[in-house]
Amino acid sequence: MKVLVATEKPFAKKAVDGIRTIVEQAGYELALLEKYTDKAQLLGAVADADALIIRSDKVTAEVLEAAKQLKIVVRAGAGYDNVDLAAATTKNVVVMNTPGQNSNAVAELALGLMIFMARNKYTPGTGTELQGKTLAIHAYGNVGKLVGRKGKALGMNVIAYDPFITDAAVFEADGVKKVDSVEELYAKADYLSLHIPATAETRNSIGYKLLMSMPKGATLVNTARKEVLDEAGLLKALTEREDLKYVTDIAAETQETLNEQLGKRVFATPKKMGAETAEANINAGLAAANQIVDFLKNGNRRFQVNK
Ligand code: 3PG
Repeated sequence: MKVLVATEKPFAKKAVDGIRTIVEQAGYELALLEKYTDKAQLLGAVADADALIIRSDKVTAEVLEAAKQLKIVVRAGAGYDNVDLAAATTKNVVVMNTPGQNSNAVAELALGLMIFMARNKYTPGTGTELQGKTLAIHAYGNVGKLVGRKGKALGMNVIAYDPFITDAAVFEADGVKKVDSVEELYAKADYLSLHIPATAETRNSIGYKLLMSMPKGATLVNTARKEVLDEAGLLKALTEREDLKYVTDIAAETQETLNEQLGKRVFATPKKMGAETAEANINAGLAAANQIVDFLKNGNRRFQVNK
């Protein structure tokens, strides 16, 4: 059996070493395709792979078609919007993610981006503090929860909304106040931290109206997905409201325009980097390898997402 790690954005070496140990101890072979620049390289590499570990790498119907022996794809991370689930299901390929394994890294970055913007991108001048401000969390999953707890530790007033969590006790356990609608969440947010996945329902869902409802001086923090933004609405709102800010680790399609027109009030990291820590790479990479071995040897489908 051949396990291919195909990562355009490679894991830390320690994570790759750990994956190799797990795969080889199971009696399988490990193949590596890192920093590839061309889809053709991925199409070639998957041809004889039985299992595939990816990050944000796109596993399209074309990739699945080229992967004649493929049985399982594990997205080492949370979001699996980069995998064509319907095509995988048709081809009898199991798709899994590794929920929670890289969440702390993303949560730490979200808070770091807030401080960066509050301190004028570390340029001279008077900034503001997070303490006492309202941190609003949009979706209370693994990352949202950690952002909430860390926000509390910084003395922020934390509120949250999650369309799938109706029990206020889930939020109260972290000292977080549940609000009842997206509208209320944005209207109260000094910092709005986005943690919704990119799905058919959420795509382009955060735009002009919600942004315009935010309090004076508010900052939208996006460590989720660029696809959830209505970028035209974002530009319009930030143009009309000179007090609003936007910060992200996933550059918008129109990031150049945003940077040019809004200058100091927007920032995007040069590369997606929420999960770019050695710890997150190790946690997610090793979990992916273990899930593959457990599936191939024991049929364990616990983290399957294309059921
Ligand atoms: C995730 O969905 O797990 C994060 O967005 C991290 O993505 P990455 O593995 O491409 O850094």
